[in-house]
Amino acid sequence: MKVTIIGSGYVGLVTGACLAEQGNSVFCLDLDPKKIEILNSGGVPIYEPGLKEMIDRNRAAGRLQFSTDIAASVAHGDIQFIAVGTPPDEDGSADLQYVVAAARNIGRHMTTAKVIVDKSTVPVGTADKVAEAIIKELSMRDLSPELCSVVSNPEFLKEGAAVDDFMRPDRIVIGTSSDPAGLRAKEQMRKLYAPFNRHHERTYYMDVKSAELTKYAANAMLATRISFMNELANLADLVGADIEAVRQGIGSDSRIGYGFLYSGTGYGGSCFPKDVSALSKTAMEYGRDLKILEAVESVNETQKMILVEKIEKRFGSDLTNMKFAIWGLAFKPNTDDMREAPSRVIIRELVKRGAQVVSYDPVAMEEAKHCFEIDFKDNPEGLKKVAMVQDHMAALDGCDALVIVTEWKAFRSPDFDLLMQKLKRAIIFDGRNLYEPSAMREVGIEYHGIGRHN
Ligand code: UDX
Repeated sequence: MKVTIIGSGYVGLVTGACLAEQGNSVFCLDLDPKKIEILNSGGVPIYEPGLKEMIDRNRAAGRLQFSTDIAASVAHGDIQFIAVGTPPDEDGSADLQYVVAAARNIGRHMTTAKVIVDKSTVPVGTADKVAEAIIKELSMRDLSPELCSVVSNPEFLKEGAAVDDFMRPDRIVIGTSSDPAGLRAKEQMRKLYAPFNRHHERTYYMDVKSAELTKYAANAMLATRISFMNELANLADLVGADIEAVRQGIGSDSRIGYGFLYSGTGYGGSCFPKDVSALSKTAMEYGRDLKILEAVESVNETQKMILVEKIEKRFGSDLTNMKFAIWGLAFKPNTDDMREAPSRVIIRELVKRGAQVVSYDPVAMEEAKHCFEIDFKDNPEGLKKVAMVQDHMAALDGCDALVIVTEWKAFRSPDFDLLMQKLKRAIIFDGRNLYEPSAMREVGIEYHGIGRHN
């Protein structure tokens, strides 16, 4: 099938590459000429395991092309995916200007029937706005509104596992309208996704608004589980219980399940913080105050400070002349994404208390450097206290403690003898509960996990 993807960012690139992999002819549009130039010269502007190989393969086979040409992109696809960014507005609601601009462009250039698919995470009601923008353009050219049908097909992929998530999805959600154009769109979507449903049907067909809400409900539910576990972990610390035992004890209940019950330094990334806040905002617009979501957000903000609190409790609030090694900067492993990463809060707060930090991340160093420049914009002296080194063991030299923020695999079983030689004091603050407190005690390391019984 012929498919256009508008927006060659994270979701757009993964969607485009995976649909090309299934034999479709895919045209990826982006208005940023730099991004398109990188893609056309064999580069990939984001880090995602397996994506570059897939893009290379499909470009070479002539199934995947990248361009800034709007008219050509609209002409190409019978199915037009909108996968542009929806950054949060100042008030937390999703900013739809790029989605609406993409819709207008489609309406301005289309001459034959098109299925328009909202792939970006957009608030309930956005498909109506997209349809309105397209139909307005069509009417100015005396074209029938029935040429377009807007579908909601939210994306559930996780950064770091995006290609795999897309190729082997838990479920595919497709929301269509019940008019004749909607029914035709449903058939086209069914055909497009048929290869992903080969062994068993994974697609849930529903109305457009339910599909839009499903995406937010999924992310908000997961974020809620994390904040709940973080609160319990903090309580476990106080009462002397072990959150890891509790996690297993409750996860074994099939109604609860094991996933997303890990306590830590709070969730980050581009989705959970943005989507929880946007869902809250949508509810407010309808006069409903979703109290759970407000609590989820506020618990998460507090949790980003948990390691700093533990460090203060151990060393006092004046950290002048102290140096901390930071392992892991990205908001989670297998990505270079630093958006809303707890590391940024932790580093800023340690420096504010007078400390120096020596940081390392396996892939996010470039991105982190850029983020630190933003975070320390008003404090250039503070920025000088943030060092970056090319190896996790090198970060330890002469530090008063190790602070683990992201659970990269390379940090899971370090050489503890060497670690103890390098650190000035054998102390670990572990924001991801990577090690067993008893094993740490045996080797003589003072270990501070999150909710782990020491
Ligand atoms: C998430 C959703 O999982 C995905 O379905 C959606 O499409 C986009 O948002 P992503 O943000 O890539 O994906 O990462 P995810 O693996 O879900 O982790 C989100 C955050 O939660 C990370 O900061 C992670 O460290 C944290 N987390 C996750 C926990 O703190 N505890 C857990 O048990 C799981």
